[in-house]
Amino acid sequence: MSGFVDKPEPVQVPGLVHLHTGKVRELYQNEAGELVMVASDRTSAFDWVLPTDIPDKGRILTQLSLWWFDQLADVVPNHVISTEVPAGAPADWKGRTMVCRSLSMVPVECVARGYLTGSGLLEYDEHRTVCGLALPEGLVDGSELPAPIFTPATKAAVGEHDENVSYEEVARQVGAETAAQLRQTTLAVYGRGRDVARDRGIILADTKFEFGYDGDGTLVIGDEVLTPDSSRFWPADEWEPGHAQPSFDKQIIRDWLTSDASGWDRHSEQPPPPLPADVVARVRARYIEAYELLTGSTWQ
Ligand SMILES: Nc1ncnc2c1ncn2[C@@H]1O[C@H](COP(=O)(O)OP(=O)(O)OP(=O)(O)O)[C@@H](O)[C@H]1O
Ligand SMILES: [Mg+2]
Repeated sequence: MSGFVDKPEPVQVPGLVHLHTGKVRELYQNEAGELVMVASDRTSAFDWVLPTDIPDKGRILTQLSLWWFDQLADVVPNHVISTEVPAGAPADWKGRTMVCRSLSMVPVECVARGYLTGSGLLEYDEHRTVCGLALPEGLVDGSELPAPIFTPATKAAVGEHDENVSYEEVARQVGAETAAQLRQTTLAVYGRGRDVARDRGIILADTKFEFGYDGDGTLVIGDEVLTPDSSRFWPADEWEPGHAQPSFDKQIIRDWLTSDASGWDRHSEQPPPPLPADVVARVRARYIEAYELLTGSTWQ
């Protein structure tokens, strides 16, 4: 079982057509045909959208994405048009709204990894490969890879698990030319992100991008970029291969959900319980810390 514990009812705004409720974002189309992406404070873990919001998360992720789009502007064009809240929308959309070019999205989760962990580590332990790419012997959880790799995944529906696929499979699905462009652009954006993060004492272990084509056939980066929801960021001074690294992402939530304190069995049919206030506060603080460390600005 998985999905939304409580499926939210989207806000209706005159002049906007609601298109989709994603795990984290609400998507609308405005009268100009642009995409209005509104990030919520929702969070997901173990393929569930949890019943508890993390206050300010939508604004933090939106502001961090916008900052990154600027950092990346000379590497790849992005989908942002403005951050204007549409007329008639709730005031609390401010800071978490992006008006974007509506792209024809390529249905591939474009993952780049510079370090071994997570699903990459599981495949490596079994086959000495990640997404079919051969890697040297002797790597452990948290090891830096000889060079960053492109490890695409298929995009799963809400409640389903993304699945790692080989580059050849991506080429079969989207064509050789698009696959090559996705790989090249993913690695270029990862490289810039890694360098910027490294200057701030943060390791960008891996990250996921989504790309689409605009009306001119140009590949554009969409969605959110280089946030703790789409990336693994590790404090560089605590990096020690051989075990799980402390991270700026939702690990606090996953740890609590799998602890005895939650009373929840992730393999049961039961939805996860609400998060206690202290877990919410710690997660919120972690998101703010990531924002402040990366951007060098104080939150709000
Ligand atoms: N510029 C764009 N044009 C069209 N679609 C976009 C653009 N940028 C992002 N998207 C899509 O908007 C959605 C963002 O919502 P969110 O991240 O909450 O969804 P998700 O849970 O990851 O995926 P799903 O949409 O399948 O539920 C994604 O489906 C993403 O592919
Ligand atoms: Mg998403």
